[in-house]
Amino acid sequence: MAAEEESRPWRDAAVRRLISEEEIRTAVEQLGRQISDDYGDRPLTILGVLTGSIMLVTDLIRQIELPLKLGLIQASSYRGTATTPSELRINTTLVPDIADRHVLLVDDIFDTGKTMEGLMESLQSFNPRSIKSAVLLWKKVRTIVDLEPDYHCFLIPDEFVVGYGLDYNDEYRHLPYIGVVESD
Ligand code: IMP
Ligand code: MG
Repeated sequence: MAAEEESRPWRDAAVRRLISEEEIRTAVEQLGRQISDDYGDRPLTILGVLTGSIMLVTDLIRQIELPLKLGLIQASSYRGTATTPSELRINTTLVPDIADRHVLLVDDIFDTGKTMEGLMESLQSFNPRSIKSAVLLWKKVRTIVDLEPDYHCFLIPDEFVVGYGLDYNDEYRHLPYIGVVESD
């Protein structure tokens, strides 16, 4: 464990490290280079998916050497009773004009894939030139949609993870690494 993490035991004592800050930094740098290469000088609009993507978006855009615009989109799943399927709500208030633009949706994690699928569908009505997706984490064993993320940094097993934007009951988003909350 890095000395800098040892000095902050109050906030994360029960979190088992899965992916370190350093590993994330290296992967995000590589992702930024890959996106820069793939898009060449085609103007790109990055849409960060609130709230989980905030750290990835701010780190990633600094690694992209392209003309680029930034927007945000909000997605949240509401799970009702056990018999009610989860309902995806999408808020496009913070989406800039993406007509005829290349769009890259950036989210923290691709789990079942329902969120990304719903976001892509809802953005079609804004007539973008193309839409792709980039995520930090891909829980591939749980994916049920006929869609895969175009870019991902890490494949992870079927565990509930927190940190680097990801939350458990809106907590732990500020941790600079990815970890698993150990139950008592
Ligand atoms: P999906 O629609 O099942 O792909 O889920 C995507 C959303 O669920 C993500 O944007 C997260 O907000 C949330 N989510 C899925 N898995 C995790 C996890 O392990 N930790 C925290 N949030 C998660
Ligand atoms: Mg999310």
